[in-house]
Amino acid sequence: MTVKNLIIAPSILSADFLHLADQIRIVEDAGADWLHLDVMDGHFVPNLSMGPDIVAACRRATRLPMDVHLMVKDPDGLLSAFAKAGADHLTVHIEASDHIFETLAQIHALGLKAGISLKPATPISSINSVLPHVDGVLVMSVDPGYSGQKFQPGTIDRLAEVRLAMDKLGSNAWLAVDGGINKQTLPLVHAAGANVFIAASAIFQNPEGISTAIRTLREELD
Ligand code: DX5
Ligand code: ZN
Repeated sequence: MTVKNLIIAPSILSADFLHLADQIRIVEDAGADWLHLDVMDGHFVPNLSMGPDIVAACRRATRLPMDVHLMVKDPDGLLSAFAKAGADHLTVHIEASDHIFETLAQIHALGLKAGISLKPATPISSINSVLPHVDGVLVMSVDPGYSGQKFQPGTIDRLAEVRLAMDKLGSNAWLAVDGGINKQTLPLVHAAGANVFIAASAIFQNPEGISTAIRTLREELD
């Protein structure tokens, strides 16, 4: 099945950090729906990226909803800093917290939307019990840590499985996919039930330019 309310969310991980404000303006003008910010701690994933100060700087550069993807172990101590920085959504990993209900409740108590994410090797059934309590699910289609990786084809069945579980529950949560999304993979993940499409390199590293990249992705959804 395919769903309506289709969201294109550029991940700034592949942006030119020296010109971040300009790059954010370009994606906003080109019709991006959300801005996706990847936070990495060097423990949960083998890379480091950005913290609350960069998120706060981006807040000053855009009116787009800021979708913050926390690839960090034990995220609880960081949640309020990202809320203060202006995040709209905080997505945490099912593998990263030993008390995920409490983590999600803290995000909601801060007045933000809460998402749950899973790495490609984590069984979909591991989120069954939290599904009624989240605003969104983020299915990783690469092992998190870096942009520019190859889409893992097993993601298609995983998305369909989450969409089915959501439909059974009558859930209105968004279903996002992140990693290796480009004009070839986008129609496949859309058909599998995703409605939020996160892309870094296909947008910010596109030889045809950022605006054309976003328009091309949008056309694939029409
Ligand atoms: C990966 C990040 C992704 C990444 C996507 O760990 O969560 O958001 O930036 O990059 P691409 O679209 O290049 O695969
Ligand atoms: Zn991400």
